[in-house]
Amino acid sequence: MSGVFCATWGSPSDTLSKMLNISLLVKKAAREARKVGLRRFVVEAVNRFSYRATANDFDRANRTDTGGRVPLWRLGIPYPSARFGASYLSPTEERIKDGLENIPRHATLVDLGSGKGRALIIAARMGFRRVIGVEFAAELADIARRNLVITGARAEVILGDAGEYTLPDGPLGIYLYNPFSVEVMRKIAAQLDGRSGETWVAYLNPGSEPACVELFDAIMDRAAERHGLIVWSARKKSCG
Ligand SMILES: C[S@@+](CC[C@H](N)C(=O)[O-])C[C@H]1O[C@@H](n2cnc3c(N)ncnc32)[C@H](O)[C@@H]1O
Repeated sequence: MSGVFCATWGSPSDTLSKMLNISLLVKKAAREARKVGLRRFVVEAVNRFSYRATANDFDRANRTDTGGRVPLWRLGIPYPSARFGASYLSPTEERIKDGLENIPRHATLVDLGSGKGRALIIAARMGFRRVIGVEFAAELADIARRNLVITGARAEVILGDAGEYTLPDGPLGIYLYNPFSVEVMRKIAAQLDGRSGETWVAYLNPGSEPACVELFDAIMDRAAERHGLIVWSARKKSCG
């Protein structure tokens, strides 16, 4: 029995240090779960593992830095809404394209919580009329701007809180990859509700924020839906 134990765990001092590491990891995970809530913690953990294998394909092909996961507490974000924000993590190129292809190219595409800019590069290459990213972490916004220069993609990055950002006029597509919870999304939905132009919202991973889905369902029609993606388009305003 002890032979089996040693074959798996190594010497007693190795075993002790591994057990200490595991207990530190468990404590760290419990702290994070308490901070962000169990549901968001589980969603982020699943995302982290499922994207690890493919996360860097995009960067290898484009010489960019858009991979990895960056928890917001590391970034010293000076906005009170930071407590409602999700860690930085970007989906695969295929998933981003799958979400964006439902939005007509004559729209201005806005990525709310644009992080390191992977979706901005992809949207610019897909031919959207104008591409804008809004990101409140200065460090990530700087990396995104560098990535745009490296790839020559035509997009703008605005540093600021998405909840305070005034959406542009004209045909508009919003891309969301789970950037923040309902407290901030309410402000976006209120602006969308007041718009009269063509509007689309492509929301990746909507299952993790049911309250946000309800917000969009209340003001827009579902235009496409499949596992991990809902696309809404604005209801036609009635004349009278
Ligand atoms: C899950 S990442 C999505 C990254 C990017 N949209 C993509 O698909 O590659 C969420 C991003 O939203 C940003 N974020 C969260 N809350 C925000 C807010 N209130 N205003 C601006 N950015 C925010 C985070 O800093 C993070 O970069």
